[in-house]
Amino acid sequence: MRGLTLSKLSTLVLHGPNLNLLGRREPDIYGSLGLNSINSLLEAEGAKLNVKVSFMQSNHEGALVDSIHESLGKHQGILINAGAYTHTSLALRDAISAVELPTVEVHLSNIYRRENFRHHSYISPVVIGQISGFGVQSYLLGLQALVHHLRKEKQIEN
Ligand code: DQA
Repeated sequence: MRGLTLSKLSTLVLHGPNLNLLGRREPDIYGSLGLNSINSLLEAEGAKLNVKVSFMQSNHEGALVDSIHESLGKHQGILINAGAYTHTSLALRDAISAVELPTVEVHLSNIYRRENFRHHSYISPVVIGQISGFGVQSYLLGLQALVHHLRKEKQIEN
């Protein structure tokens, strides 16, 4: 057996601004599921993958930055939907670079099929990869990809 399993992998799901309104916010674009339902599906996916999943949502850039910093020593990877901060926030990008925790970027909508200002992500260059356009599946696929990456990286087998 390669490697030792010391403790369960722990991941943090970060939801950015306005995602607290999912379900009622532009359902044609973002779907009808609320944030709690999305988190429940992620929790179930986490159980299948045998990882711990914690959640945080904020409408405030600094609070999201704090949460990324506080992940050090607590979580091994981050799944982030930074909402509109994706397209504006150097601070979030720098926080992700600073902590050096493997991070996957997700979006419910396909940001490249939408307005030009959504086509650029400040975060993409500092994450492992981005999944965009699959609704709630973007989050679930993102979690799978993150866990796959962490296990490969650390040679942990379960
Ligand atoms: C979003 C896309 C962003 O452009 C937008 O500002 C959001 C949600 C998405 O999940 O599709 O708030 O990140």
